[in-house]
Amino acid sequence: MTRVLSGIQPTGDIHLGNYLGALRQWTSDQHAHDSFYCAVDLHAVTVQQDPKQLRSKTLETMATLIAIGLDPNICTLFVQSQVHQHTELSWLLECTVSYGELKRMTQFKDKATKQGDSGQEHISAGLFTYPALMAADILLYDANRVPVGDDQRQHLELTRNIAERFNSRYGNIFTIPEAAIPAVAARVMDLQSPNVKMSKSLNSPQGTVGLFDEPSTIGKKFKRAVTDSDNDVRYDWAKKPGVSNLLSILGATTGKDPEILADDYHQYGPLKNDAADAVITAISPIQVKRAELLGDKAELNRIISVGAEKARQVAAKTVAKAKEAMGFL
Ligand code: TYM
Repeated sequence: MTRVLSGIQPTGDIHLGNYLGALRQWTSDQHAHDSFYCAVDLHAVTVQQDPKQLRSKTLETMATLIAIGLDPNICTLFVQSQVHQHTELSWLLECTVSYGELKRMTQFKDKATKQGDSGQEHISAGLFTYPALMAADILLYDANRVPVGDDQRQHLELTRNIAERFNSRYGNIFTIPEAAIPAVAARVMDLQSPNVKMSKSLNSPQGTVGLFDEPSTIGKKFKRAVTDSDNDVRYDWAKKPGVSNLLSILGATTGKDPEILADDYHQYGPLKNDAADAVITAISPIQVKRAELLGDKAELNRIISVGAEKARQVAAKTVAKAKEAMGFL
């Protein structure tokens, strides 16, 4: 059976990009494959977090994962830091990945530049070695399929290289994973700056559609979405990124091909309205369900600890195999 693993950082608010690029695939994958999903709080602390906020965001993220339709009786849902094998394997992998490989990661370069630009001189070593921890997340569970958005492609490629190098040095320990990137909405762009991806860290409140925004706020954000000055609706990322982004969001939420959808529109207004309505329809039930789950924290914590126990059982076996192969007593 195919094994699936994916993760999301419990920072900021989960947005439409996370949902369409990754989370939606998780819900369908859980029925077809043996699936593991986690809130990656150890990744979150590669930049400084307020402890109180981190704790509440982690709980909210877990509630969101259940609210989108992940069933803890079908898949394994857990919080990364509660499974200590992630940090243990991460160290072993850090000792096999090279400085040069990590230095080439565009996400590190982007995040380090962003921090520098905002006047923060302190760039943690953890931000640099982040991809080794991500490789550990995946390899611990023998995952062959990793549903992610397009921005994680390079990290997945590095994970494969790390696993292949480890296997050639120490024997066949790790499964070589593959990224599962959706055909539509793999990179949802910011509504105000359609040349950059929608992101928790972009600080573009008008361009980012939060999964828990009020319907009226979502309507306004779509209405004000940046398009261009002609009124020609075409699916053409190079020339019409704003319009293509709207078509891609509408396509992903309605299950239609964005290119074919373009023929139905001759003005931007109706396209913006329909995209907003489709998004609101898709996410309203998630909003209701998450509020319910957060109303019973004891039950949520129970689900989280059962998930951690299930994850530990699998992860412990992989770490034991890797340590044995490397020659630890
Ligand atoms: P994170 O928390 O930034 O994002 C979670 C998932 O959402 C996807 N995503 C997007 N997809 C489409 N359009 C966007 N604008 C957009 N923004 C984000 C991401 O690709 C991701 O799939 N490093 C990872 C978390 C991670 C992980 C892992 C993922 C840690 N360990 C192991 C898979 C397997 C991250 O920061 O995702």
